[in-house]
Amino acid sequence: MEPNSDVRHVVLQRASEAKVLLSPEALQTLAELPEEKALKALAKCIEASNFIITGELAEEIISSIETIEKTTAGVEVQRTDFKPLNADIASQLEINEELDISGKSRCTGTVEEFVGLFRDRLKRVKGVLKNRMSETPVVPIASVKGFARGRTARIIGMVFKKQVTKNGHVIVELEDEETSVKCLVMKNSPMREKADEIILDEVIAFDGSSAEELFIVKEITWPELPISPVKKTCEDDIAIACISDLHIGSKLFMKDSFVKFISFLNGQGNDNERQIAGKIKYISIAGDLVDGIGVYPNQEKELLTKDIYTQYEILCEYLKMIPEHVEVLVAPGNHDAVRGALPQPRLAREFVKQVEGYKNIHFVSNPCFAKVHGFNHVIFHGSTMYSMINSLPNLRNCHLNPEKVGVEMLRRRLLNPIYGDNVPFAPEKRDYTVLEEVPDIFHFGDIHRNGYTNYRGTMVINGGCWQGKTEYQVKLGHEPTPCQVPVYSLKTQNLQVLNFLGEDKI
Ligand SMILES: [Fe+2]
Ligand SMILES: [Fe+2]
Repeated sequence: MEPNSDVRHVVLQRASEAKVLLSPEALQTLAELPEEKALKALAKCIEASNFIITGELAEEIISSIETIEKTTAGVEVQRTDFKPLNADIASQLEINEELDISGKSRCTGTVEEFVGLFRDRLKRVKGVLKNRMSETPVVPIASVKGFARGRTARIIGMVFKKQVTKNGHVIVELEDEETSVKCLVMKNSPMREKADEIILDEVIAFDGSSAEELFIVKEITWPELPISPVKKTCEDDIAIACISDLHIGSKLFMKDSFVKFISFLNGQGNDNERQIAGKIKYISIAGDLVDGIGVYPNQEKELLTKDIYTQYEILCEYLKMIPEHVEVLVAPGNHDAVRGALPQPRLAREFVKQVEGYKNIHFVSNPCFAKVHGFNHVIFHGSTMYSMINSLPNLRNCHLNPEKVGVEMLRRRLLNPIYGDNVPFAPEKRDYTVLEEVPDIFHFGDIHRNGYTNYRGTMVINGGCWQGKTEYQVKLGHEPTPCQVPVYSLKTQNLQVLNFLGEDKI
């Protein structure tokens, strides 16, 4: 296209006002655009460089603007005629800042820090286990070593080692703050099958008795959730929608379907849909907001844009379209631009500054602990699921039933039970992955497959995804269930799943 002299003039003037230098190539490139677009691109160039704007930078910025336009095209949302009842209900959202790692990480990865982290885990899960009923007294491991043969006790510790002997017995080395002991689950014990469910680094209790150097296990107790939880109630007829794994920036992001969801939130549906949308007061997003860069082999081929800032800018465009009476909790996942090690801090401002000032958008850590309308809500991306699936025989083939993996996390009161398997873990002063309080809602994602169950009063929800099947997932044999949105009513405690799958290819 020929440069337009009027545009050229306006661009030069704006650059001089901002005291930046434009290279001849940059000026040429910008002057070829319509005026509005040229000024938008120039503003972004100035944001990126406050001294000299090169032709290369201008081209990069223009290509980013075009990707954003392409990915959000067709997203026209009118909010004016939709005034649901819940818009007037005051939100009750408390994010537990103490359990949010953002800005607090000081660890460097020393052995001492890891020892401290696991001591913290032991202390916290032990606190939960001590509340479990026991016929035998809880004693430190050191004391059972001096016990007379046959005297019974309960010991609590972390699983340091586990092995199955040639004869089919199970030996677990259990460790507490002071020492460790080898615990034997005999092949013919009624506990033998349960012993297969013991995984490394979890904290459990054994009832049993001493015999020489061994502790003979009679009973195994996990921290578990209480059998009769206190039932929460909510007067307001409101609901929370739990989604995850948007993967914006991927060619497989299901834009049309996501636009349908956003339009639904804005009341652009039939009467029934408007009624449901009107009840949604909270949206929880459990990570993998964007596809990121270099996360899995050959990912570049499946990316719409290799610029991470552009990926987040598209996310922000969508977040801006969510009605302002809906509180949105946004946690990161393993594809996001935060450290890979758990716990992950919230997204840095530089990536999401476009929604600054949007009071209903809350960026949170992974995991995130919040109270929504009095309900304990836990968000966890969930990348630790695979190590559990690989370790627990009762989870074999549970790629298709992620809710079962969620239940196993709840039973152990740990979101990241097995250390060093797959997901890096930062040795912070406390173990942020311990579930000391019982969640009312446990929302996770990562596996791209919806799954739900109510486990002892806790609603377990996997929020599925908004991305078609990647080549990598094809290789792993995963079966995603995109564009299905679970909406959980806090009043009735019923779960409804809405399908937004549009014209997109799965
Ligand atoms: Fe993920
Ligand atoms: Fe994902």
